[in-house]
Amino acid sequence: MKEPLLFVKDLHAWYGDSHILQGVSLSVWKGGASVILGRNGAGKTTALKTIMGLVQRHSGLVRLETLRLDELPAYRVARAGVAYVPETRGVFPSLTVQENLTVSARTTQGDWSMERVFDTFPRLAERRGHKGKWLSGGEQQMLAIARALMTNGRLLMLDEPTEGLAPNIVEELNNLLRDLLDDGLSLLLVEQNFEFATNLSNEIYVLGKGRVQWSGSASDLIENGDVTRTWLGV
Ligand SMILES: Nc1ncnc2c1ncn2[C@@H]1O[C@H](COP(=O)(O)OP(=O)(O)OP(=O)(O)O)[C@@H](O)[C@H]1O
Ligand SMILES: [Mg+2]
Repeated sequence: MKEPLLFVKDLHAWYGDSHILQGVSLSVWKGGASVILGRNGAGKTTALKTIMGLVQRHSGLVRLETLRLDELPAYRVARAGVAYVPETRGVFPSLTVQENLTVSARTTQGDWSMERVFDTFPRLAERRGHKGKWLSGGEQQMLAIARALMTNGRLLMLDEPTEGLAPNIVEELNNLLRDLLDDGLSLLLVEQNFEFATNLSNEIYVLGKGRVQWSGSASDLIENGDVTRTWLGV
């Protein structure tokens, strides 16, 4: 039987008095990709942040295999094997590509060394001496992902990785994520790019008003005009 790597049940989160997540449940299977789709303000980023331990007031169950994450601070969630690339990407503008990678590398041994990163991302290798602020949007996204990979986690969470990227870079990103999945990594993706999401994943969660309004396979979603019109505006 398939086993979830990440299991989230009845997750609630608040910012002050605002009850943002109102009972979100989802799974990411080992070696699989799950995608959270939803309109602006649906609570997608909040869901990733809450899983990561970055939203203070929350309740519900978050489990990575048998380990409870929901009571852990963010650095312990990261150490447990969850890598997170925020929407803002978090590239240090005045550090070079190489320095950006060095500052976040784990001291523990893992599969992702600097050499492997540069093999996987030839453009980053070419630009290893360039400062973060001189990189294109696509290069910054690749750097942010490379940096997350160097923490050698088992689950990679990406918040709208295709945002602002040219179509050819989106395709490159798609190929990269497929390779990472083939390699055994698991993904939890937040997206507004419907085509990218449904191409990459068969485990779709449609978030609306802080709740999972629909979940199922990409092909079922594509056929379900009511859901896409009401909750995605596609
Ligand atoms: N730090 C915060 N303090 C208070 N309210 C917040 C905070 N961050 C987000 N919110 C509110 O929580 C709700 C969900 O926001 P969230 O950023 O999770 O949505 P989203 O689905 O990621 O949207 P987008 O597609 O625009 O990125 C919104 O109503 C937003 O205004
Ligand atoms: Mg967001």
